Amino acid sequence: MTINSRSYRFARSGGASNLVRCNNTMLSPGPREVLIRVSAASLNYRDLLTLQDINSNHEGLIPLSDCAGTIVDVGTEVARWKEGDRVSLNFFPDWHDGACSLAYLQRSLGGGQTNGVLSDFIVAEETSLVEITSHLTLSEAATLPCAGLTAWQALFERGALKAGETVLVQGTGGVALFGLQLAAAQGAQVIVISSSDAKLERARTLGAWQTINYCTQPEWDKVALELTDGKGMDHILELGGPETYDRSIAAIAAGGRIAQIGVLTGFASQPNILPLQFKNASINGICVGSVEHFKRLNDFLSDQQIHPVIDQVFDFDEVPAAYERMKSAVHFGKIVFDLA
Ligand SMILES: NC(=O)c1ccc[n+]([C@@H]2O[C@H](COP(=O)([O-])OP(=O)(O)OC[C@H]3O[C@@H](n4cnc5c(N)ncnc54)[C@H](OP(=O)(O)O)[C@@H]3O)[C@@H](O)[C@H]2O)c1
Repeated sequence: MTINSRSYRFARSGGASNLVRCNNTMLSPGPREVLIRVSAASLNYRDLLTLQDINSNHEGLIPLSDCAGTIVDVGTEVARWKEGDRVSLNFFPDWHDGACSLAYLQRSLGGGQTNGVLSDFIVAEETSLVEITSHLTLSEAATLPCAGLTAWQALFERGALKAGETVLVQGTGGVALFGLQLAAAQGAQVIVISSSDAKLERARTLGAWQTINYCTQPEWDKVALELTDGKGMDHILELGGPETYDRSIAAIAAGGRIAQIGVLTGFASQPNILPLQFKNASINGICVGSVEHFKRLNDFLSDQQIHPVIDQVFDFDEVPAAYERMKSAVHFGKIVFDLA
């Protein structure tokens, strides 16, 4: 079977790269691989960083880590999957279960070292796939592999989040809103900080307990302490980096957990971590998650009937406009591509 596929590829390495459209002929899947018709993909902040990375050598590679689609062909030794199954790919194809390994990072999808998923068709190893829960559309499922799984690992796998605990998430992008939805469903009290009152209003409709505008109230750590009667937050998704870290440390409760996740304000965080010692608080480094984590995330989403927040859907011709929207940070939730 010969299949023609459209994709985007990085035009060049270094400097201000951009993306070019290409046509490819798909190969048949290998014995333990499947061929997937991609219906939807989604954008993460990482994809913006990868496009802008002046040190990368990504020319010719396909961007993006997150997609959802339907299996259209299976290799001769594939037992678990069949044509018609709806699947997502794990961000780390090699991280199936157990502890993370630095070796898994080499093949993370779409990060400028291996091909990603912004393509009509992709071939994937059967062990890297997760079944899509029936209550989600393919567009909704395409938002999960990076942002959803990161919030899940931070709060549930490493954070052991319990009902009644407090959680603070920074901003209203992909990871933050998954953090809000998952934690609220678990019965936690969630504070959302954002630059926009309008976005904070929407966060309340998703279950935010309290909201803080970090532009009009830049000392949001003090506000969070006041709102919790001086106790502080049990969990913080640290997404900002240099401009937010010291406040996260100030706002974390005794015994609390900061999930080290993001670099929204840069890579050179140098927080004073001494207060963590007196608070007996900890920092958990989080890097997306494993296939088994992803399955447990899907089970929770299904049990709680949670639908991811989609900001806007772009079609294949509008990929550059979608990157621009993410760069402008006007989005609320996930930016999705419809490739169907
Ligand atoms: N470690 C991992 O495994 C992992 C996985 C996924 C993502 N990440 C990282 O996590 C971060 C978020 O990723 P994403 O894809 O969710 O991003 P995103 O969807 O682009 O979210 C961006 C939003 O963050 C908020 N923000 C920006 N600066 C802020 C600040 N100083 N304080 C508080 N909020 C701020 C803004 O929300 P408002 O407009 O509401 O202010 C902005 O719209 C990125 O740094 C990304 O690289 C890491």
